[in-house]
Amino acid sequence: MAINFWPFMNKNKLISNEDNQINIIPNHVAIIMDGNGRWAKQRGLPRIAGHKQGMDNVKRIVEVANAYQIKVLTLYAFSTENWKRPDQEVKYLMKLPQEFLNVYLPDLIKENVKIEMIGQMDQLPPHTKEAITKAIDKTKHNTGLILNIAMNYGSRSEIVNMVKSIAEDVHMNQLDPSQIDEQLVNNYLYTSHLPDPDLLIRTSGEIRLSNFLLWQLAYTEFWFTDAYWPAFSEKEFVEALKAFQKRKRRYGGLE
Ligand code: IPE
Ligand code: IPE
Ligand code: MG
Repeated sequence: MAINFWPFMNKNKLISNEDNQINIIPNHVAIIMDGNGRWAKQRGLPRIAGHKQGMDNVKRIVEVANAYQIKVLTLYAFSTENWKRPDQEVKYLMKLPQEFLNVYLPDLIKENVKIEMIGQMDQLPPHTKEAITKAIDKTKHNTGLILNIAMNYGSRSEIVNMVKSIAEDVHMNQLDPSQIDEQLVNNYLYTSHLPDPDLLIRTSGEIRLSNFLLWQLAYTEFWFTDAYWPAFSEKEFVEALKAFQKRKRRYGGLE
């Protein structure tokens, strides 16, 4: 099914044409939401103002993803390395999920969004954990977009945990080493129930993965933009989707 290119702008009577069609929608889009601090600095504001603006942009981009019938949107919100930042910034970042959900959970419920989380939940402060757990519970029967928040997520730590769990199961005679294959490894990751991302977007001009989904991104298409996350717009998101549909995915084979 061809989906119109500008679902929101059309409401404002902008004309669409053949070029404005997206036929191939990625099932799973992952985004490294980077550049909040620089966005704020550019405006003479404290870094946390950038995080606040970034939070509001999450809601906007969720709406776009939903409109395009993307099935899973994984957002990198806090990495296992982000604890190195000044206490005050970490404290603010740990308050953001709560703030985001206080403002937007009712809308997300109405919009049939299902909230999930990947990362080490047990290391989060209780108030952060509670807010996320509540949102997961309240949206667990929703059938629309899966909004998967990567919070205290690090791919290497995920891989270490996977190896530990497999070793334990072998040790307990619940698993034979001959059963270990790619599918089994996948089953021990946080993302076991999700398809691998089709498209990875990173904002802010940085061209690196910063410990994000190292296993899952093996055959993902990458798209980078200089825009800082708070300024990453619907238009830019659509650019990424447009670029994605032109990619030829071969998975090591031939077209
Ligand atoms: C992304 O923006 C948000 C998090 C990593 C939590 P940054 O805070 O990294 O912003 P920059 O990269 O310093 O501009
Ligand atoms: C990656 O951004 C993590 C998140 C977006 C949550 P960083 O700003 O932490 O990454 P580096 O330090 O520039 O690699
Ligand atoms: Mg950054």
